[in-house]
This record gives sequence, structure tokens and C-alpha cells, in this order.
Amino acid sequence: MTKSYTAEGHTIHHGEALEVLKTIETGSVDLVFADPPYNIGKDFDGIHDQVEESEYFDWCWKWLDECHRVLKPEGTFYLMNSTQNMPHIDLYCRTKFAILSRIVWSYDSSGMQARKFYGSLYEPILHMVKNPKSYTFNTEDILVEAKTGAKRGLIDYRKNPPQPYNTTKVPGNVWDFARVRFKMDEYENHPSQKPEALLERVIKASSNPGDIVLDPFGGSFSTSAVAKRLGRRSISIERNETYIKIGLRRVGIPSDYSEEALAKQKVRKTQNLSKKQRTKDLVEQPILQLEL
Ligand SMILES: C[S@@+](CC[C@H](N)C(=O)[O-])C[C@H]1O[C@@H](n2cnc3c(N)ncnc32)[C@H](O)[C@@H]1O
Repeated sequence: MTKSYTAEGHTIHHGEALEVLKTIETGSVDLVFADPPYNIGKDFDGIHDQVEESEYFDWCWKWLDECHRVLKPEGTFYLMNSTQNMPHIDLYCRTKFAILSRIVWSYDSSGMQARKFYGSLYEPILHMVKNPKSYTFNTEDILVEAKTGAKRGLIDYRKNPPQPYNTTKVPGNVWDFARVRFKMDEYENHPSQKPEALLERVIKASSNPGDIVLDPFGGSFSTSAVAKRLGRRSISIERNETYIKIGLRRVGIPSDYSEEALAKQKVRKTQNLSKKQRTKDLVEQPILQLEL
């Protein structure tokens, strides 16, 4: 059974994504950011993320269809998944959406990723819309430094008359954002917390103040927290009570949990199935599943 918490335009649903999505009004959401479990054996606080591949994709198609249904005709959908799953998901999404960008969230790691193959240091993100002729993209709000113009002050002599290079540009499709580390203020005790900076770019680019941002897999609720800070409304769904408590605190929604129950606990992510173990498991599987 779903329990819902709402305040000041922000709702957190404690329940199953698919069930809750079915209750959301058709064509009512401006932006969806979906970062589901990737089916790679992660331990989400006791709930193991690993089923048969066909079962995983059948489930994905169901909630993807629901996300399509609830999105406004001019809405935008960002979807994350693992490097090995994304080709399948991309093919499915092409039948429903116009894919505008295939983004790579790239990050570095000082740890050893793999010994006998190239460790995975990126996660793919699809940027899709229902109507490629009409959608929100707030270029001015997401400009980044254009190094040639900003740092070196060069003149572009190919132009007539010659002009200085631009000092800013729209980011390309390779996004460098550091992963959330234990020492960072935003760190929460969640095994796949996405950085606020990444969500900030997504939400600023593809929604306007007052718009509704939906995240069917809330996790540590980075999406709702950033949506709130940027003056958007939000709806998030999460099935795990431990993470619901993080969300209620981060988004500031009143509930019947005590202050102690909601207090931030910074615990290193040691309970997750270690990367070494997952690498070992994966190399024993067919070649197509080698990446993490
Ligand atoms: C990859 S994490 C999301 C991380 C999130 N983007 C963040 O920044 O923290 C996926 C989340 O989906 C939740 N989840 C998995 N299956 C679910 C389901 N059927 N319904 C609702 N939530 C689910 C997991 O508990 C996990 O917290």
C-alpha cells in the first residue's frame, strides 16, 4: 500500500513505482528524471537488484510507457541506466520518443575498476522529448565556460570581420560531474546517489519555475531536493522506507517520523555488494554483460 507525504508542491510516495505511476494524471508532468535500479546486483538497503534480464526489461517497458503517458505533450524525459542495458532501452525509447541527446556522465575514480578489462567510468543518460518541435530548453541557464574564448582570449579570424571567441557555450553531451563522496555535504547513505550538480543542469535546462518534475525512483531524493531549491514542484516515488526518511528530511516535508528517525546518518557505503565481487560475478557471465 502506498503512503504519500505532501507539502508546498512536493509529494513523496512510499510505494511501488509502477503502481503509483498509474495513479498520476495523463499529460500532467513537465519533466521526468528516471534513474531506476540497473539490475546489476546492487544492495538497496536489503533489497537486491537482480532479476532475469527478460523480466527486468519487461518491467522497464511498463514503467517507461507510464512515464510517456503522464508526460505533457511538450515534456522532456531523462533516463539513466547501465552501459550494458542502455542499447536495449535506446531501441525501445526510439519507438516512443524523439531522442535529442545521448549523454555520457563521466567521472573519475582513484580506485582500481578492473584488472583484465577497461573499467566503466561513465553512465549513459538519454535526453528525450515527445515533440521535437516544441519542448523546453533553457539555453541561457546552463551555459558553461568555453575555454578557448574565456581563458585564452583568442580571436576567430575565420569570421569577417574577425571576432573574439565566445566565452560561454552550451554543454556538450559528455558531462563531468564528480560522484558524491563521503566528505561532501550532500552525501547521503544511499548506494547510487546522483550529484546535485547533474540534477541542477537537467532541471534548469528542461523545466521552468512552477513546473512539475517527476522521479519514479527517488533514492536519496536528489531530484526533489534540487527541484525545490530551483522553485519547481516535484513528485517522487520510492519503495524503501530508509530512503523515504532521507527524502522527507531533504525536501522538508512534515511526517509522523520523529526528528531522530530523520536525522542524517553519514555511513560509508560499505554494505553494498563490493565492486570486486560484482566484477567477479560479471566476468563469469556472457561477454555482453562485462561492464559494470
Ligand atoms: C538508482 S537508485 C536512484 C538514485 C537516485 N537517483 C538518487 O540520486 O539518489 C534507484 C532507487 O529505486 C528504488 N526502487 C527500486 N525498485 C523500485 C520500485 N519498483 N518502486 C519504487 N522504487 C524502487 C531503489 O530503492 C533505489 O533507491
